[in-house]
Amino acid sequence: MKEQLSEIRREIEEKIHTFDSSRSLYEFRKIFLDNKEGKISLLMKGLKDVPKEERPAVGKSINEVKEWALSLFEETDREIHKLELERKIASEAVDVTEPAVKTRRGGLHPNTLVQNELIDIFASMGFEIFEGSEIETDYYNFTALNTPEDHPARDMQDTFYLSPGFLLRTQTSAGQIHVMEKSRPPIKILSPGKVFRSDDDATHSPMFSQMEGLVVDRGISVCDLQGMLDLFSQKIFGQGVKTRLRPSYFPFTEPSVEVDVSCFECGGKGCKLCKGTGWIEVLGAGMVNRHVLENCGIDPEEYTGFAFGMGVERIAMLKYGINNIKTLFESDTRFAEQFAD
Ligand code: PHE
Repeated sequence: MKEQLSEIRREIEEKIHTFDSSRSLYEFRKIFLDNKEGKISLLMKGLKDVPKEERPAVGKSINEVKEWALSLFEETDREIHKLELERKIASEAVDVTEPAVKTRRGGLHPNTLVQNELIDIFASMGFEIFEGSEIETDYYNFTALNTPEDHPARDMQDTFYLSPGFLLRTQTSAGQIHVMEKSRPPIKILSPGKVFRSDDDATHSPMFSQMEGLVVDRGISVCDLQGMLDLFSQKIFGQGVKTRLRPSYFPFTEPSVEVDVSCFECGGKGCKLCKGTGWIEVLGAGMVNRHVLENCGIDPEEYTGFAFGMGVERIAMLKYGINNIKTLFESDTRFAEQFAD
């Protein structure tokens, strides 16, 4: 019995400091102190077989070893707990002096920024948004807009035809017809959208965005158009910007005009942006041609209207000093990032 006890002591002393988790220490503890099968507990149980007169002394020795073992395990367990905690704290430590990882924020594309700004300006003047479709029929894109089959105006815009009679719209003006067919005056709509022309150079892209405006009511005159253009130009290009109308030609407006704004870069003195003229062309407009009103069942004797159409990329290029339209479509994040707010 004595030998067994010292064997147990040796075994415990030898291994107790080799554990680094309370879980493994607990498993080791069970070998000796498990209530049923622990080596010490078994010795206790064997006490009944020890001769009666030796029993108290043996019992005492077993108890001593048990007490010793219990407190040694307890103490070691405390140490291991401390170490475990230290390890955990070290692994979760945060170095507050370390520079933060920079996150990249997205932003709106300059074309979207300008489109949103234009929509806001016209919405504040009471225009409603109408979105037409990118695939149109020849009728809506040309014929109803007073541009018959053999009209030379069709050559003004090189068209992508899909199949006979169907095409990718070359102008948001097609939306004018849809609106005037469906609703009666007063009409005041803004129609933004993509348009397509077989045209490709530094200032033209086969796909670009337009913004069409249409106002039809009793007594609408060129003065209304000019007044609205003044307000619009000042909001988009800055206070003090003036507008100028030059005679032009579009089959669906009569009279037709090109609209220039005084150069917001040099104030009209003449610079690189305005090519020394002091003026910058920004959009096409005019009074709705009476034939177009008639095509939509609106009486031109009773109603008149004006329409305008502008290229969104062109406005964005002017506003941000972009000289090649391609940069707007290349998706280069270094370019786009400059516009993030
Ligand atoms: N649709 C014309 C174009 O694409 C612009 C325009 C719209 C002109 C409305 C007059 C009235 O060039």
